Amino acid sequence: MKEKIKVAIIFGGRSTEHAISLLSAQNVLGSLDKEIYDPVLIGIDKKGQWHYNEKSMSLLNAQDANSISMTEMDNPVLLSQNTNQRTLTSVNTKETISRIDVIFPVLHGTFGEDGSIQGLAKLANIPVVGCGVLGSAIGMDKDIMKRILRDDNIGVAKWVTIKHTSKGVIYKDIVETLGNELFIKPANLGSSVGISFSKDQESFFKGLELALQFDPKVIIEEKIIGREIECAVLGNEYPKASIPGEIIPKDGFYSFENKYLDESGAKLQIPADLTENQIQRVQSLAIDTFKLLECSGMSRIDMFMKEDDSLIINEINTIPGFTNISMYPKLWEYSGLPQKELISKLIELAIEAHTKQNKLKLT
Ligand SMILES: Nc1ncnc2c1ncn2[C@@H]1O[C@H](COP(=O)(O)OP(=O)(O)O)[C@@H](O)[C@H]1O
Ligand SMILES: [Mg+2]
Repeated sequence: MKEKIKVAIIFGGRSTEHAISLLSAQNVLGSLDKEIYDPVLIGIDKKGQWHYNEKSMSLLNAQDANSISMTEMDNPVLLSQNTNQRTLTSVNTKETISRIDVIFPVLHGTFGEDGSIQGLAKLANIPVVGCGVLGSAIGMDKDIMKRILRDDNIGVAKWVTIKHTSKGVIYKDIVETLGNELFIKPANLGSSVGISFSKDQESFFKGLELALQFDPKVIIEEKIIGREIECAVLGNEYPKASIPGEIIPKDGFYSFENKYLDESGAKLQIPADLTENQIQRVQSLAIDTFKLLECSGMSRIDMFMKEDDSLIINEINTIPGFTNISMYPKLWEYSGLPQKELISKLIELAIEAHTKQNKLKLT
C-alpha cells in the first residue's frame, strides 16, 4: 500500500484571528481525504508555542466563535528548519513525532498569512499550501497591495498611509483628499479587527489611535459605495476563478461582529446576482489580481462593484476563512468543486509549486 502523505495542519497562532483559525482548521481536517492524507495536527497557542495535538483535535466549545479555544496542551514541538529533515520533534523527549510532507497553514492574519510560516516552510524545504513568502506578505499589507495594483491601473479606493503616530496628521487635508466618510484600517490585519468608519474629526482620531494599536502602519480610505463581490481563485501559473459571491452586511460595513458573532450579521449570497458580462469581468479581474500580487495556490479576491458597474479591488485574502460557512470553500462548491476535492487540489498545487522551485538552479 502506498504510504499516505503527511499533512501538517497548523492552526491557532498569535494573531487576532486565532479563534477563526480554530474553526477553519476543524473544517479543513473534516474534509481532508484520509485515504490519501494523514493529518498531523499542530496547534499554536496564543503565546506562540507549538503543540502536537492528538488526532481528535480537542477544541473547547468547538461550535461557538465566541468561546472556541484549544484545550490545555502540553506537548510542545519544534519543526526542524533543517532542509530535508522535515520532521516534527518533541521538545520534552527530543523524539521525532512525525515526518511532515506538506504544511497546510490554516492561520489567518499575522504570523500565518503574512509570509512568516511560508518562510519557515521554505527553509525547511517543505511544500506549503497557498501563497509563498512574497505573495503572502504582499497580500497581507493593504498599502503595498494597493500600490502594486495601482501601478497596473487596477482600480482601488483612494487612500492615505499613516505611519507610527497620529501626530502631525491634519484632518482637513485628509478630508480634502478623500472626503469626510472614511475607513480607517490597520495595514496588516484581517477580520475587520481594528477597523473604524468615521464621519467627523473626533471619531477619525479615535479610529486612528485604535488602528495604530494594532499596526504601526494605517491606511485611511475613501468610502466606496457599491456591492461587495468576492471571487475565489485556485491554481498556480494558470489560476481559475470561481463563480462570484456577494456579501450583504446587515448594517454599515462587514464588521467583526457581522462576520463571526451575529448569525444574521451579513448575508452570503452564492451566486451573486450578476449578468454574464459582470461575472466574466469579476473573474478576469480576480485572476489578474492574483497574478499581479504574486499569488499561488489560493486566494479570495474581494471587490466592490460600484453603481456605474465598474469594479475596484478592496483586498485579497491569501488564507481565506475556511469554516463550514466560509465564502472560499462555498464558492468552489457552487462552482462544482466539493470541499474534499478542493483540499486535495490545494495540497497537490503546493507539491507542484515546490517541485518546480526545487528544480531551479542554485548556483
Ligand atoms: N473603502 C471602503 N468603502 C466602503 N466600505 C469599506 C471600505 N473598506 C472596507 N469597507 C468595509 O469594511 C469591511 C472590512 O474591510 P476590509 O478591508 O475587507 O478588512 P479585513 O481585511 O479586515 O476584512 C469590508 O468588508 C467592507 O464592508
Ligand atoms: Mg475583508
